[in-house]
Amino acid sequence: MELQAVRGTRDLLPGETEKWAEVEKWGRAVFAAFGYRELRTPLFEHTELFQRGVGETTDIVTKEMYTFEDRKGRSLTLRPEGTAPVVRAYLEHHLGQGEAGQAKLYYLGPMFRYERPQAGRYRQFFQIGAEAIGYDHPSSDAESISMLVEFLARLGLSGLSVDLNTVGCPDCRPDYHRELLAFLKSREDRLSPDSRERLGRNPLRVLDSKLPQDIEATAGAPKTFNFLCTSCSAHFAGVQRHLGLLGVPFELQARLVRGLDYYTRTVFEVKSGRLGAQNAVAGGGRYDQLVGQFGGPARPAVGFGVGLDRLMALLQESGALIETEPEAHVAVVAVGEKAFPRCLALAHQFRRSLFNGFPVRTFLDLNPGRGVKSQMKRASASGATYAVILGDEELAKGEATVKDMVSEEQFSAPLGNVVQEIGARLELKGGKP
Ligand code: HAM
Repeated sequence: MELQAVRGTRDLLPGETEKWAEVEKWGRAVFAAFGYRELRTPLFEHTELFQRGVGETTDIVTKEMYTFEDRKGRSLTLRPEGTAPVVRAYLEHHLGQGEAGQAKLYYLGPMFRYERPQAGRYRQFFQIGAEAIGYDHPSSDAESISMLVEFLARLGLSGLSVDLNTVGCPDCRPDYHRELLAFLKSREDRLSPDSRERLGRNPLRVLDSKLPQDIEATAGAPKTFNFLCTSCSAHFAGVQRHLGLLGVPFELQARLVRGLDYYTRTVFEVKSGRLGAQNAVAGGGRYDQLVGQFGGPARPAVGFGVGLDRLMALLQESGALIETEPEAHVAVVAVGEKAFPRCLALAHQFRRSLFNGFPVRTFLDLNPGRGVKSQMKRASASGATYAVILGDEELAKGEATVKDMVSEEQFSAPLGNVVQEIGARLELKGGKP
């Protein structure tokens, strides 16, 4: 049998990984600007965490979790999402600050769901997410959404829309549920088998169905925002007002309910018309009950998760340019085997020196004695801006020949000084970060 990656998983190859790292770097920078700090939680947790957090009636918990028993018979689950683990860690390490127990945390890494793989849907996928715990003002929902939009804008993405809805709170949701259930019952025969089954457990889930049959059958369903209690209604109006203040365009989307049970009040998704069926790049919302549900104090919270696989596909497809930092890149070329040891040491010296705060990327052919022409070809293919050429002649003079790979101009520099010399020239060429 040929060994292959497991269905629904994939390798990210050189060429892709650099782009991923760049995107992650922008995420970190934008989130830090909003006061968020990174939290890394384990890839697996006690199964109960997700059962209680994400919800027993959700697709995630009923059929998509990678759950296994460890050698002592404990039930563990590969994390299907990041919010429940963040809340657990928040409580476990008392991360809340001040009276309101505030903490702004972000995370990135793989999540696991046993879904049917298709374009944009994997069984191991990556998220970058952010959670603001201890925040209840509508401006915090708006800030969270604006941070997400700012992150996506930094990557040069356009043509995205923010869908916004509210799912109310435990005070007003029962009224809505009752009304929705009556509506759905009246057209039960037109629903898909899956939705008919969901009907009894959680009618909201039916609105979440992406099947055309269900979308058609539920057209004209009652809208949550017509059933809100006074405080949920004020909150929803506040979120919209603050989004306006921040200049974030959005569309009200009555069908948007999200697939996780912990949401209260605000829910949102960022979609792209370019992504096909799996069109949500990011999703999130408010979860005011979750910290309390995990045994903590009442702590309102809001956050989102971005699907990095879908984000990368969008970047690829739209040709959006990710800004990259200028980078120094040098090649050291040995003319004849005798010069090789000196070249190896010189390459090491370049790699230990910093340009723009980073080690200088240095190419050296590790086949001593390869022809100069072939080495120069490789140097140029590797993207070097300067080649430092050393042979018997140069060694005798204590000099190196330096070739500017762009202008093809050549000059000599004292061997003891060549790193500084090139460093100074790169400084002149390279823009500021
Ligand atoms: P979610 O909507 O389940 O929310 O996932 C967020 C994003 O992850 C989706 O919009 C999508 O881009 C990506 N995603 C989900 N499943 C897959 C998959 N199988 N393959 C590829 N990408 C996928 C959450 O996970 C919540 N924890 C978000 C949140 C944070 N809410 C509040 N705070």
